[in-house]
Amino acid sequence: MYKQIGVVTGGGDAPGLNAVIRAVVRTAAGEFGMKVVGIEDSFEGLIGETKIRKLTTKNVSGILPRGGTILGTRNTGSFCKFVNGVVTFPTGAVEEALVNLKKLEIEALVVIGGDGTLAIAEGFAKRGFPVIGVPKTIDNDLAATELTFGFMTAIDIATEALDRLHTTAASHDRVMILEVMGRHTGWIALHAGLAGSADVILIPEIPFSFESMVQKVYAREKSGSRFTNIVVAEGAREVGKPEIYRDAGTSQAAPRLGGIGEYVREKIEQITGKEARCVVLGHLQRGGSPNAFDRMLGTSFGACAVRALAVGEFGKMVALQANEIVTVPLVDAIANIKNVSADGQLVRTAHDIGISFASPNTSLK
Ligand code: F6P
Repeated sequence: MYKQIGVVTGGGDAPGLNAVIRAVVRTAAGEFGMKVVGIEDSFEGLIGETKIRKLTTKNVSGILPRGGTILGTRNTGSFCKFVNGVVTFPTGAVEEALVNLKKLEIEALVVIGGDGTLAIAEGFAKRGFPVIGVPKTIDNDLAATELTFGFMTAIDIATEALDRLHTTAASHDRVMILEVMGRHTGWIALHAGLAGSADVILIPEIPFSFESMVQKVYAREKSGSRFTNIVVAEGAREVGKPEIYRDAGTSQAAPRLGGIGEYVREKIEQITGKEARCVVLGHLQRGGSPNAFDRMLGTSFGACAVRALAVGEFGKMVALQANEIVTVPLVDAIANIKNVSADGQLVRTAHDIGISFASPNTSLK
């Protein structure tokens, strides 16, 4: 049994991170008598002048409903570099961190993160250091788990935004466009679009055409609805065109998607002559308190991660599969991004109830 373990939060923040931290501490201390150390500012707290703090059931009391992470996080830094937008993982930082983990008497790590953070964690596991990953991202794009924590709260936030845009669109007979996050997948846009009664859902997995989009606008006009609500994922793109980026990124940071909503707004106004407005929901989807589901899922993930360490598992990630929490090899967990399937059940349902994906493919008009 480990005497002392560490916990790390990495990548973009998400609602529910503190629920995981709290469950890790309460399970490790309460169930297995382990000490827990929090590593600050993601893995950066393990190199240079190390930044750690003791975590106890007392000092994690009350953090369950708090957004963000009490440990701080980074989605850039010494453990990953970007060359022409492609991420690489320099080994030097991991070697230095392993030396410091030994000095600090931290015998294992629970690493809470998305695909990038878990890839760094895999670098520790490859060198024989005990690591268990916990899948975090509002994007819900990790193939090995049915859900990541943070996703359900992001959907609530985007759905509430769509509900609000609905009334202003109807009042002004406008086309309102909501740009949501999701990186290169459309899970947030698809779920929020269904829950928020969007008329058009634009996702990266189904490139769109303006010809199909305006057909939907005109069909609604003809039926007496002189407004249209469009939700667009930040990675969505027009047929034959690339995704739209806000910046090209640096050696330290990935290129940032953004701008597709404004592009759609401008073209819709030009083509239809109708007033159109765009709202970019941005980091509102990442901030604030986790909903009840993400508190529960984060708590379950955290407790199961410690239990897995306690029985000697490592190089694994906890995952939700068929409503049970299991462990899967980290190397498999980070191998594939989970994309929306264009002929999946949820897309079919959206189509069947009349939502357009603005695809030139007639079956997904
Ligand atoms: O991966 C989570 C996420 O919120 C993506 O949906 C988004 O594209 C990205 O992070 C934004 O990153 P940053 O916080 O660096 O702007």
